[in-house]
Amino acid sequence: MFSFESFDIKLDTEFIGRNFVFTEEADSTNEMLLERGNKYTINGTVFYTEKQLKGRGRKNRPWYSAKELNLTFSILLTNKKYITENPVLLNFAASLAIGNALENLYQLKVELKWPNDVLINGKKICGILTESTSEGNKIDRLVIGLGINVNQTMFQGSYSIPPTSVRLEINENVEREKLFAEVLNNIEELLRVMIESPEIILKDWKQRCNMIGDKISITEGEEVKYGIFEDVDENGFLLLRDNNDRINKIHYGDVSLR
Ligand code: BTN
Repeated sequence: MFSFESFDIKLDTEFIGRNFVFTEEADSTNEMLLERGNKYTINGTVFYTEKQLKGRGRKNRPWYSAKELNLTFSILLTNKKYITENPVLLNFAASLAIGNALENLYQLKVELKWPNDVLINGKKICGILTESTSEGNKIDRLVIGLGINVNQTMFQGSYSIPPTSVRLEINENVEREKLFAEVLNNIEELLRVMIESPEIILKDWKQRCNMIGDKISITEGEEVKYGIFEDVDENGFLLLRDNNDRINKIHYGDVSLR
């Protein structure tokens, strides 16, 4: 069972998780914070569930997570300074926060995959989905949803990237409360860095992305593009060098090695 007390004592943030909503069951934690007319407005609100019934991933894929074994939650951002039309850097900051937590607490070697997957030995340990709502043409709330595979050891279904969990990687049961607090502490710190010096987030993210320089394919819907993963630009978009040596800027898509 999740112990709020063990988590709270390790939480060292100013705003993230200070308003904390714990639920045994919810359809999608992202949806709970995004739905029109909901009661959550406080910047940094964390909505957490022990069992997500309709978890969603990128590109409308489902996100499955076993009950009471993982960390499945969303963070609400309503303060203007975090609201952005382009969430790629936010995703980078969140992926780095997870990566730092997994490295510091369990000495795991983490790789980051564009745009926002966290992998260990080529397997996915965490997925991130950032969504927003708008009032008129202005974004008024941004939600970062994270699913971290912690103590789950069996995964059913088909996955584009094979899944893993912290427990599978370290062969030990993991204290979810400690990992959760560390992740939220890191996210708050990296959001501050993102505002003050976004180039640091880019540099740190690139250092952990092993695919730069590799031959890749990018799938977006029916379209597949091939080329070399040249770099990411200052907004976090992927720069793909095609066969004619032209640079294409990629905003979305699934990257695979060729
Ligand atoms: C992906 O890799 O496709 C992103 C997965 C994101 C899953 C998390 S779990 C918590 C939050 N609520 C959701 O419905 N989705 C995100």
